[in-house]
Amino acid sequence: MSERKKRILLVIGGGIAAYKCLELIRRARERGYAVRAVMTKAAAEFVTPLSVGALTGDRVFQDLFSLDDEREIGHIRLSREADLIVVAPATADLMAKMAGGHADDLATAVLLATDKPVLVAPAMNPYMWRHPATQRNAATLLADGVALIGPNVGEMAERNETGPGRMAEPHEILAAIEARLAPAPTGLLAPPPLITPPAEGLPLAGRHVIVTSGPTHEPIDPVRYIANRSSGKQGHAIAAAAAALGARVTLVSGPTTQPDPKGVDVIRIEAARDMLAAVKAALPADCAIFAAAVADWRVASASDEKIKKDGKSSAPRLELIENPDILKTIAHEGPGRRPSLVIGFAAETENVVAYAQKKRKSKGCDWIVANDVSPETGIMGGDRNTVHLVTAHGVEDWPEMDKGAVAEALMARVAAHLRTMTADV
Ligand code: CTP
Repeated sequence: MSERKKRILLVIGGGIAAYKCLELIRRARERGYAVRAVMTKAAAEFVTPLSVGALTGDRVFQDLFSLDDEREIGHIRLSREADLIVVAPATADLMAKMAGGHADDLATAVLLATDKPVLVAPAMNPYMWRHPATQRNAATLLADGVALIGPNVGEMAERNETGPGRMAEPHEILAAIEARLAPAPTGLLAPPPLITPPAEGLPLAGRHVIVTSGPTHEPIDPVRYIANRSSGKQGHAIAAAAAALGARVTLVSGPTTQPDPKGVDVIRIEAARDMLAAVKAALPADCAIFAAAVADWRVASASDEKIKKDGKSSAPRLELIENPDILKTIAHEGPGRRPSLVIGFAAETENVVAYAQKKRKSKGCDWIVANDVSPETGIMGGDRNTVHLVTAHGVEDWPEMDKGAVAEALMARVAAHLRTMTADV
């Protein structure tokens, strides 16, 4: 029996980039997807429903209060009959309405009524994108489990304006669509549902999450050590966000000044080898997130006694040996021991995404949260973070957020992912 065509519901917002949707529809249909379009009132100012309909080969839906439309196929059916909803271009206004749960036109009503995954391609002026209100809305959407693609950095339609705000190109949006609609790699006949009904109670109730955080201290002698500048802010925020979603959380932390997050089981360690032992002892877990800045090396033979300067011999020479890679070790644990979702962090100063993609493979983890830690970003030790989420399905560029918001968005994604995995079984 031939497989049923995957259905995309394309919500076209009112921006100059709407014209790119024509190309997107054409390419999507070439790939065998059925495309149905909903246009906002403003979208029809930029591209005609006639051209959109000619390309989708279907009627174009525009009006929430059209008796004909509602009789024929109501907004609820419209939102449920799709396998994926794509919002492109997503204007600042449309994103604000989505984040606020508005439903005053057909596009927003469909987006609020859906139980299907949603992919959003923002497009707007760089100032609008950078505005704290839009950044807040983008963070809210991410935390709600919505995927974002773009915006890209580039020339704007307005003369002399460059910056983040250009809608992702049709081929990039299509790649993101394909990644989200790809059948499960397990060889199941039917692809698993991407989103399943929420579990009873809090989304991570009954789950165990292990988080590593902070630096490690590698002893030279009983009073001296090698350390790094990690503050533990991001790791501790992740542990707090996991607990807020109902998970049982084990936080294995190096020395930091961060207060213990509420409702979290905190295990304090000093050196990398202790961190590994504590993480292993905490297994099994549903998810493990490695946010700690583990020292890559330790002193080969740390002295049991304080090293004295005896005034005669020269300064001591420290021989360093490599520490165990905790993330890699846990990612390679056998069945029953390896958490279903293993997430690493990558701190880079150049080629952030490319290095992170490589790291995901070399460490054997499922996701990498990558960030640019060049000194000018102020991320190391700071309160804000700009991350890229690298998964097997591609890369998501998240907007700049405070570390608490990054943690909440990440844990919302973890909860959605674990739910999907359970639904597969
Ligand atoms: N990690 C770990 N144990 C180590 C080293 C790193 O668990 N001994 C984890 C970190 O917690 C983080 C990821 O691995 O999740 C970072 O990988 P790492 O190889 O250390 O990369 P970077 O610190 O980003 O630096 P580099 O690219 O120089 O290796």
